[in-house]
Amino acid sequence: MDFTHIMTDTDHLPLTAIKHTWIQDLVQIPAALHGTIQDHGSPVNIQSLVPFEENIIEYEGVFRKYDLKHRIYFARKANKCLTFAKHAASQGQGVDTASYQELQQCLDAGISADQLISTAAVKTRQLLDLAVRSAVTIVIDNMDELSLLEEVCEEHRLQANISLRIGGFEVNGNRMHSRFGFSIDEAKALVLDNLATHTNLIYTGLHFHLNGYSVSERAIAIGECIGLIDHLAAHDIETFHVDIGGGYLINYLEDENQWQEFQHQLKLAILGKRPELTYRNDPLGIINIEGTLHGDAKVYPYYNKLHKGDFLESILGHYVPKYEEPIHQLLRDRDIEIRIEPGRSLLDQAGITVARVAFRKHDSAGNLLVGLEMNRTQMKSSSADFLLDPIHIRSNQAEDEQPIFGYLVGAYCLEQELILLRKIKFESMPQVGDLMVFLNTAGYMMHFFESQAHQFDLAKNVFYDGSGHFTLES
Ligand SMILES: Cc1ncc(COP(=O)(O)O)c(C=O)c1O
Repeated sequence: MDFTHIMTDTDHLPLTAIKHTWIQDLVQIPAALHGTIQDHGSPVNIQSLVPFEENIIEYEGVFRKYDLKHRIYFARKANKCLTFAKHAASQGQGVDTASYQELQQCLDAGISADQLISTAAVKTRQLLDLAVRSAVTIVIDNMDELSLLEEVCEEHRLQANISLRIGGFEVNGNRMHSRFGFSIDEAKALVLDNLATHTNLIYTGLHFHLNGYSVSERAIAIGECIGLIDHLAAHDIETFHVDIGGGYLINYLEDENQWQEFQHQLKLAILGKRPELTYRNDPLGIINIEGTLHGDAKVYPYYNKLHKGDFLESILGHYVPKYEEPIHQLLRDRDIEIRIEPGRSLLDQAGITVARVAFRKHDSAGNLLVGLEMNRTQMKSSSADFLLDPIHIRSNQAEDEQPIFGYLVGAYCLEQELILLRKIKFESMPQVGDLMVFLNTAGYMMHFFESQAHQFDLAKNVFYDGSGHFTLES
């Protein structure tokens, strides 16, 4: 075969992913990776509890530093493996469940009800029934949900602990858009006029989860919650916790310059001023109107100086309008438990996805396509592309030692079935049977959008123990 589609090295822009030591070590043992693919098929998700536990410890360290009552609820939606949920619980933390199934599985796994919360966006009677009978705290989003919960409590003659979801916070005079929750005023009226004297629904706290990654918006939201908490306290109504949801930034990339340069060069490519960086010059969500570009790529901000523990700490250290102390002190003074629901950030460095090369070919434009035994729902986020360089693991001596550029494509029958839109540099021509390792995929990438079109099996999930052994997630 003639694979001559070679770009020059100067056209290449690496995006080098940070690799935890368990990953660095494992990719040095190709036989172990090949063995797992042989045992479980391609692709396979390989995960580790080591970084997961380190991430829990990092957040705990921040709370301890400020002497705050706290609990970390792992947002299970980010990864379906029950092993992570069980591990969070074994570390004394909790699990945020987003559906009946997630909650039932956690209860069946023996996680105690006080370590679980239900934040499901749609709460069926079946879910509320389970949560009430198991005494799991329920985060209430709207009045219909509240009415249904009242019915369920009535039916079982049981009480339910509830937290109220707040949304639409006012930031710099503007209301933040949200489809979730009650406004502060609605929540105030609901507690004062209804919950304060309710026989079955026990108001215990406030909850929010904000889109995006703004520290100051989170701080303002906490400030507004504290304002409400003080108002309720003046009416002798106690608030035990504030749950500030998830959304703690992580850092995927080794080098900030690579990230800045990629974004800059992507714009030049879209304008036709340099060779393409993406398949058919895909703009990754940037809008090009007659040569003027609007907006940035619709992707996760892959490089972040401020991330995880430091990100949380900067929220807690913020000052908010109407109060003279930083947030951590406002919470401590009121003896309020702060709760967080990190998903992606607890899974930082906790998983990789490995797939086998099935074929090489060229498309009609001459682009090298490397076909993988996987489909794109097996590594897909809600953003336009996953911008980390994969690692190419060769099985044999390369046919051609020259670097080569191409695209990774998958098994669904669509023209747009690219595993990554970004053009990838391979140090040598991939061969059938080689492996591609995608890094840091445990948070959302593996499971959130996976589907079974064409009746393909879902990818198997295994946990690596650091010394050559893999355990299959049941
Ligand atoms: C209510 C709630 N909590 C927590 C999370 C987890 O967010 P992240 O994975 O960004 O930490 C989400 C994500 O959508 C959410 O909706």
